[in-house]
Parts: sequence; C-alpha cells; structure tokens
Amino acid sequence: KAEQSEQGMANPLKKRFWFLLILFVILAIFASVTIPKSPYFLFADETPAKVIHVSAMQFAFYLSEQAIDPKKPLGESIQLPANELVEFRVTSLDVNHGFGIYDGSNRLITQTQAMPGYVNRLRYKFEKPGKYNIFCLEYCGVAHQIMRSSFIVK
Ligand code: CUA
Repeated sequence: KAEQSEQGMANPLKKRFWFLLILFVILAIFASVTIPKSPYFLFADETPAKVIHVSAMQFAFYLSEQAIDPKKPLGESIQLPANELVEFRVTSLDVNHGFGIYDGSNRLITQTQAMPGYVNRLRYKFEKPGKYNIFCLEYCGVAHQIMRSSFIVK
C-alpha cells in the first residue's frame, strides 16, 4: 500500500518537473529573442551627431542646443538632421512629465520621462524628414493636455 501511494506521488512530481522545464525553456527563448531588442541599448556605442537639451515645465517643453538655465528657461525652434543619431537630455523643472515623440502620422515612436533632479538620455535616429510632435505623457496638472512642442527633421 505504501508503494502505491509513493507511485501516486511520483507521477504528479514528474508532471510538475516537465511542466516547469518546458515553461523555463519557453521563457528562456522568449527572453533571448526580446532582450536584445530592448531600446535601452540602442545606439549605446555611437557618438550622437547632435545633443538637444529638453526641460519640461508646467505646461511647456523647452528645447535647446545649449544647456537650459532653470531660472529663465528659453526654448528654440529645433531642426534635426535625418538619419543621424540625436540625443535628447531630458529633465523637468517642476513635477514629473512624460516626453513622447510622435511622427507625422501621430504614431508614438519613442519616449522617456522628464523628472526633476534627473537627466534622462533618449537616443534616436529619425529616418523620415518632416515635423515631429512632442506630447506630455504623464498627467502633470490642469493644463496637461495642452503641453506640447514640435521640431523639424531635415
Ligand atoms: Cu506635463 Cu502632462
């Protein structure tokens, strides 16, 4: 009788072993396919052709080729080269904001957070020339929905 119950126990343990093994193999395949596509490593070894400083503030984005003075933030209208690496250095002068870049057909192509006290680097190569819009992607106050900017890629 003891033997029987041991066998009864051995079978579910075996099933569990195979279930976990197959699950592990599937997850390992999934991770090895998707992790290299992570945007965090994108263009990590390249030197950007252009650096743009971005300061977010209720309710505007200031973009400049020079570092922005937090006491009197001033933006410029920005033109970026197509097919060259651009680095955005994104921060916030007040609360958390989102920095989302949309292409001409209003598709979100890349984004990062704008946080006070931190500078987030966002690297991207714009392939298509044209106008790109920037929208805030995090609710940051009553006028969040009007917080936007744009730049031109030539
Ligand atoms: Cu800034 Cu929402």
